[in-house]
Amino acid sequence: MKVLVIGGAGYIGGHVARLLSDRGYAVDVVDNLSTGSTRNLFPEYGFFRGDILDYPWLAGVVAKGSYGAIIHLAAAKAAGESMLVPEKYSTQNLCGTINILNAACEAGVERIVFSSSAAVYGEPRYLPIDESHPKEPENYYGFTKLEIERILAWYDRLKGIKFAALRYFNAAGYDPGLRVRGLEKKPANLIPVIMEVAVGIRKSLDVFGVDYPTPDGSGVRDYIHVSDLALGHLLALEYLEREKKSITVNLGSESGLSVLKILETARRVTHRPIPSVISPRRPGDPATLVASSALAKTVLGWEARHSSLETIIETTWAAYAAQESTPLA
Ligand code: UD1
Repeated sequence: MKVLVIGGAGYIGGHVARLLSDRGYAVDVVDNLSTGSTRNLFPEYGFFRGDILDYPWLAGVVAKGSYGAIIHLAAAKAAGESMLVPEKYSTQNLCGTINILNAACEAGVERIVFSSSAAVYGEPRYLPIDESHPKEPENYYGFTKLEIERILAWYDRLKGIKFAALRYFNAAGYDPGLRVRGLEKKPANLIPVIMEVAVGIRKSLDVFGVDYPTPDGSGVRDYIHVSDLALGHLLALEYLEREKKSITVNLGSESGLSVLKILETARRVTHRPIPSVISPRRPGDPATLVASSALAKTVLGWEARHSSLETIIETTWAAYAAQESTPLA
């Protein structure tokens, strides 16, 4: 089967494209390279550089490809920014996805795997968070992901497009084989920020709050290795082919790690001091987010295999250390 990976030069998309290609799928990538890197692309992929907001161009690419499925990972994803510049999230996330769905309808593509997010849930009412947890996003980014899930359900009902919406918890780590290692530009997420401090791009890490009701007072999240996420996409694709029905699942490791624990592990693995400063809480951050991934296990046969804290930090450090010694991009 030929698959179009939209956002395939990005951090998660790059890992997804690599795995699909390794497993025998023909892979084409669409990316505007606004945050993605050509270092995540491989000669065996078809690559179309352009923007999903350019509908005539996008519809042309989708129509010509004879794709069995689209994997859509092209979105703006900074929760804090989405509260300041909602217009960007409306356009890129909502309008961009609608363009992809309409192009899929025109071309007769029947399956789509969509990057959703734990941000659809908002402040947890109970832990671990399963898929039936109330959906009350606390930021506009999470709202766009939830609205897209609802639009997907309508396109399933009205146009017969089957979707898998994958609600990622905190994506982390790098390809253990280090083939996919394009680094994110100007990252805002915890682990890349820690790595930028380790290599000297930033002076110190701001620890956003140590007064949370958690064991060490810092925020607790469910970090899921990007290679485990990539496998989730492959299994979701196989599920859509096999079952011909839509599905929405969490992808998380089911264990919570605190900011301070991650910082301590990063110092040990990197042998760098990684200075830190205790800062006020970041608005909108819940104390703890931990997934239940029982549904993905039962229905997709998915399991997180690379998501130990050690593997996450070691593989991320390998990518940053490689860039430090041979800067390419
Ligand atoms: C958020 C979104 C998530 C989205 C992800 C991608 C929510 C609830 N979550 O995750 O859906 O997919 O962004 O961008 O909207 N931290 C620091 N210092 C830093 C950065 C982070 O202490 O410099 C702390 C945060 O307070 C938090 C943890 O580290 O406790 C993880 O933060 P981050 O990596 O930004 O991800 P989330 O906000 O959990």
